[in-house]
Amino acid sequence: MNIQKLIRPNIRKLAPYICARHNRATGIKLDANENPYGNVNRYPDPNATEVKKILAKMLDIKAEDIFVGNGSDEAIDLLMRAFCDPGEEIIVLDPTYRMYKVAAGINDLKVKSVPLTKDFQINVEKTLSSISKKTKIIFTCSPNNPTGNLLKKKDIFELCKNFKGIVAVDEAYIEFANEKSCISNSGQYPNLVVLRTLSKAWGGAGIRVGYATGSPEIIKALNKIKPPYNVSVLDQKEAVKILSSKTKIKKILRERNRVSKILKTLVPKVYKSDANFILFEIPNAKHIQEKLQSAGVIIRNTQIKNCLRVSIGKSGENDKFLRALSNLLKS
Ligand SMILES: Cc1ncc(COP(=O)(O)O)c(C=O)c1O
Repeated sequence: MNIQKLIRPNIRKLAPYICARHNRATGIKLDANENPYGNVNRYPDPNATEVKKILAKMLDIKAEDIFVGNGSDEAIDLLMRAFCDPGEEIIVLDPTYRMYKVAAGINDLKVKSVPLTKDFQINVEKTLSSISKKTKIIFTCSPNNPTGNLLKKKDIFELCKNFKGIVAVDEAYIEFANEKSCISNSGQYPNLVVLRTLSKAWGGAGIRVGYATGSPEIIKALNKIKPPYNVSVLDQKEAVKILSSKTKIKKILRERNRVSKILKTLVPKVYKSDANFILFEIPNAKHIQEKLQSAGVIIRNTQIKNCLRVSIGKSGENDKFLRALSNLLKS
């Protein structure tokens, strides 16, 4: 598959912005019109070298095959900018993360929404038959937000095999699942790109660092069009610190189990979660969500009929949520 051919012609031709420090970052820095005084007076490393070094080691991939961005949301936007001309199309598998549609709207792209099956898996046949000449990217999300379940890998790969465009797998929540990342399969599928983030399992949502990896040509295209200083000095520093420490996944998984068990005693249906949130069904979902909010507990309404999504917080926070919900259901 020729990935180069999939890249928008204007992006293929584009001469990227190259900083004078691109190849040598040490020495007297008189190239970027910075102020010589201050703590954060220097522009950040455009290549996020130290962050990539750690990620490459952790994931057993090459540093040059990684794009580091301002959250994985930036990777979602840049994929569209690299591969889709205005008026072209992406496919999303609903219900899913709503940013794909928003980013598509910003980029003037059409969105074809293909429903997931009843058990929230990919309807491969329907997805493939929805592809048109204008379809450039299919976004899959595993574990999926807001349903919380993993998608079957074989279905994702079926899309890769049968679609001549880009297949993105958003693995924002993969660390919470009992499943290996699709990163290890990117060698087999040149059109596969995997999106990951420090915002969830790593507890780094406040610094806005996400990354993408996959076929070198896709990653090269993202790195070519990203703003040169897209990840701040402070964010890069903190990202290195976070990635060098331990995640709190075990604690969250224990709480996920506990909350899920108690929720099952309160509401008609609790979905199995492979992520750090739980989807559950409840009559009058919107009303319940608003009542909870008035009681000081903010959870998320969803596109799924009578379903709410609650994130797993600290044990005391989860207790407050469960108590508030239980009180509401009694009243
Ligand atoms: C599926 C999914 N992808 C991406 C993101 C955004 O991640 P980031 O914080 O890295 O931009 C989220 C955030 O909630 C998400 O749910």
